[in-house]
Amino acid sequence: MVTKLKGRHFLSCDSWSKQELDTVFETAFDLKRKFAVGEPTRYLPDKTLFMIFFEQSTRTRNSMEAGMTQLGGHAHDLTADKMQLSHGESAKDTAIILSRMGHGIASRNCFYGIGQKYLAEMAVHSSRPVMSLQDDIYHPFQGMADLMTIFEYFGRNVNGLKVTISWAYADTHSKPLSVPQTQALLFPRYGMDVTIAHPKEFPLSKHIVQKAQQNARQGGGTLRFTNDMDEAFQGAQIVIPKNWGGFGHYDVREYLDNEEACQTEMTANLEKYHDWICDERRIRLADKNVKLMHALPADRNHEVTDAVLDNEQISIVYDEAENRLHTAKAIMALTM
Ligand code: CP
Repeated sequence: MVTKLKGRHFLSCDSWSKQELDTVFETAFDLKRKFAVGEPTRYLPDKTLFMIFFEQSTRTRNSMEAGMTQLGGHAHDLTADKMQLSHGESAKDTAIILSRMGHGIASRNCFYGIGQKYLAEMAVHSSRPVMSLQDDIYHPFQGMADLMTIFEYFGRNVNGLKVTISWAYADTHSKPLSVPQTQALLFPRYGMDVTIAHPKEFPLSKHIVQKAQQNARQGGGTLRFTNDMDEAFQGAQIVIPKNWGGFGHYDVREYLDNEEACQTEMTANLEKYHDWICDERRIRLADKNVKLMHALPADRNHEVTDAVLDNEQISIVYDEAENRLHTAKAIMALTM
């Protein structure tokens, strides 16, 4: 167990060693048990976390705020429009000032080509830990809750576990790449055999794929890609159907210079793939004990049918969502 994590930024799972991540899981399981029996866990008394949301959130916002309360501290729920950053105040000045007033800074900023850079800039200047609540590249808190949930259902030895992460149709908004990219980087480090399915216009970012392949080689897992959703489901023990925008199709510079045109093209591409849905037929292609995971919110009957999402033999999405609380508390208690 690694105990010296105070002050560490948490901007991606990839920037933490496996031993450090395992410390988070040990702590999260302990916190979950204590939460269940009503044992107080006031590990951060009188401490303040500043949370800055540039986008909407249900699970992340509430797991962090409830988590801080349960740890004996307090979280400020801030949005960009409440702060001077909406008038252009820099990440540097925001980070220096907030880190002098409290004990941690966390932010969600998913703007493509901008979000992760913004968080990294804050981390350079903050004297307190900075945490990514999701950006354009990573969603580390989601990755930790996903893996904790997998451990609960499949045990701690997940070598060779067959996991399929599949792009799926959705019409809500252009979702970031950060959830599948975090999973692609993280799961093979624990020896899982990961298949990623997506239409050709919806790839993950090239540099993340390269890093994920390197992680697989080092972690003993495998990572493969297909453009065939049916083929990806065959024999899978876990399926994760999820929409993501076509951002990975563009270089960041190309996207930022032609954002409107890229968005128009992404919308046109999206409309070709209504049949990329996780339904009962596709579930029958998977392992007979397959589990469905989804970071939520799900675009019901587009990404996944109600019949699958509400099937309690298959769907473990609510456990996955609850584990956002326990893993968030573990990371805050260890770093703040
Ligand atoms: N999974 C997730 O991050 O949910 P929210 O967008 O509701 O925070």
